[in-house]
Amino acid sequence: MSTDDAVLEQLPKLEEVFDPSSDEYCNNPIKQCMALMERGPFVFYEPWQAWVMTDIGDIMECWRKEYLSSDFYDWEFAPPRPHEDDWGNFEKALIGHSLVSDHDHHRLIRKVVSPAFSRNVVDEIQRRIEPDIDKLFDAMGSPKSFDYITEVAEHIPFITITRLIGVPEKYWDEIKPLLENFTETWNPTISEERREEVRQQCNRGIDMIKVVIEERRQSPQQDDFLSTMLDIEAKNEKFTEWDIITLVLALIGAGADTTLMAQQWSVYALTKHPDQRQPALESAETFSNAFSEIMRWSLNSKMGFARYAPEDMDVLGQRVRKGQLVLLMPHLCRMDPVKYPNPEVLDVKRNFDPDVQFGYGPRYCIGAAMAKRQLFLTITKLFERFPNIELAEEPERDSSNHNSIALKKLMLKTNV
Ligand code: HEM
Repeated sequence: MSTDDAVLEQLPKLEEVFDPSSDEYCNNPIKQCMALMERGPFVFYEPWQAWVMTDIGDIMECWRKEYLSSDFYDWEFAPPRPHEDDWGNFEKALIGHSLVSDHDHHRLIRKVVSPAFSRNVVDEIQRRIEPDIDKLFDAMGSPKSFDYITEVAEHIPFITITRLIGVPEKYWDEIKPLLENFTETWNPTISEERREEVRQQCNRGIDMIKVVIEERRQSPQQDDFLSTMLDIEAKNEKFTEWDIITLVLALIGAGADTTLMAQQWSVYALTKHPDQRQPALESAETFSNAFSEIMRWSLNSKMGFARYAPEDMDVLGQRVRKGQLVLLMPHLCRMDPVKYPNPEVLDVKRNFDPDVQFGYGPRYCIGAAMAKRQLFLTITKLFERFPNIELAEEPERDSSNHNSIALKKLMLKTNV
């Protein structure tokens, strides 16, 4: 037995020092994240039957080379991959998912759709969502205090994604459950009952998306994501209506929960540290760096990013079986004092090299520019409307969210 193995044997079991579903993690994840990181670069976590990759360099290499699969159905505990004849909406979306399935198809789709996320498009979406955000604040009037999450944050992912895609307001109520629940469908840690429930909601939501696409076919040229996609479909034989649907779902799946978390933690961080507000919000560029610092400081991730072993293979010196889940956890090092001196201090001018807040390599977040713009816009408006706003109380944390540490409420005092 090597000295390292002997030291590891003396340590308590990993599940005794790391449990993201616990209240202790929720209230102070730093100790647990550091404890996991100290176990080594690639460790097995029994409760989730998953390997965890802890080192940022290894994670970037994995992101860049894509030697693991992103396909949920490659997971050893996934329900059996149904035969194509039996696919419902949900299976078509998950199995035939343009961004999740085969690496080559993924790269093609990314290339084809990149114009839909260009700087000009982001400017145009900003123009479109600005009145919606103004309306939200107008409807609030001049309250003495309010909960930022229910009054503002919860509405933003919906506004951004429906405006980005171009879903008419008449369909908003029917599409809402899809937006609220789709991310859960591919979370390996939820129960089978819950998976079935969200599967049904997704099936109904996808039917609605088909109706919206059909309507857009009849009246194109509305300068939105769907019209751009229909144009691409007309010009590319390999790009079909299902590619459009799965892309819409990818935007919903990847853009809804992330935006909600980003909203609440950004506002919490900048109301708790009023001295950081001005340097963070000087410009869209300064906010971009500030956002990475806010997410580092808040350390709100629980699970990281799921990948699956496509075959029996050696990964970082360990034998990994085909189908095993590998979780990439770039957040673990965010409070490491070696990487980030004085890690508990929020410093929006901190330098990030590399900055992997939005991933890295071929699967880098397609909505990163959109996400940051929408946050910058909303938070700037919040402080313009309520220049003397402050935290009304320290928010209680909610441990029930499957993927992140959420805040139960974010009560703000406006001092108007
Ligand atoms: C602040 C909010 C956000 C954060 C922190 C974030 C972060 C990330 C990260 C880290 C990845 C890589 C995941 C992996 O490697 O498995 C990713 C992928 C992705 N994100 Fe975001 N994201 C955010 C908002 C958005 C928004 C608003 C959209 C869409 C409107 C979006 C769409 C996507 C898509 C489609 C992917 C998959 C890309 C691919 O596989 O090619 N994200 N995001």
